[in-house]
Amino acid sequence: MPNPHIPVITIDGPTASGKGTVAQKVAQHLGFHYLDSGALYRLTALSVMRRDIPLDDEHALAKAAEHLHCHFNGAHIFLANEDVSNDIRAEAVGNLASKIAAIPTVRQALFGLQLSFRQHPGLVADGRDMGTVIFPHAGLKVFLTASVEARAQRRYKQLIDKGFSANMEDLSKDLTERDARDSNRSSAPLKAAEGAYLLDTSAMTVDQAVAQVLGWYAASKPA
Ligand code: CDP
Repeated sequence: MPNPHIPVITIDGPTASGKGTVAQKVAQHLGFHYLDSGALYRLTALSVMRRDIPLDDEHALAKAAEHLHCHFNGAHIFLANEDVSNDIRAEAVGNLASKIAAIPTVRQALFGLQLSFRQHPGLVADGRDMGTVIFPHAGLKVFLTASVEARAQRRYKQLIDKGFSANMEDLSKDLTERDARDSNRSSAPLKAAEGAYLLDTSAMTVDQAVAQVLGWYAASKPA
């Protein structure tokens, strides 16, 4: 049973806002564990794609999430012992992840797995509903945003660096569609948690954003 007294920092925000990079660096700095909750939805999507599960078979989709055989090793992410760290970053996988993430039974199936990441000495959790649903009592909650232009540019660079092809126009369209789907769904929609600090990183470097989150964390702890 994860200990409710272990500190948690939640970093939520829209697609390609840079929250993953910021969250990992904050975790590294504090020596905390890191939960990339989006990776769990991406892993489920990859497993669904490979098994050709139709999008209208909710029962089979929830089962795929419930029986996700995955593990994390540093930056490497494994699905049934295959290193899929790169495969899950494809836009097609992200788009499918966002579709199946709207299904409440899929979200429910991943609930316990996410809680299990709360281990000593602490956790930085990144996603869409970390502060609203999964860790509503986190000591520090951050909602990280950036303009669509800044996010499309970041995602473009990320995809090209990973050897995928990409173009800015399609990416901006994808981002806008994904934002709408993630924000308008009825189950755990993307929104700032109550009490979350808002951080717009459009004109910030990663290090500046990390320093801001660490500053808020230091200030949130009792003296
Ligand atoms: O990399 P990107 O920010 O685009 O997405 P991600 O964090 O890898 O998440 C992929 C998709 O999973 C998102 O578009 C969301 O629909 C979904 N997701 C979610 O619903 N809840 C979370 N806590 C994390 C991701």
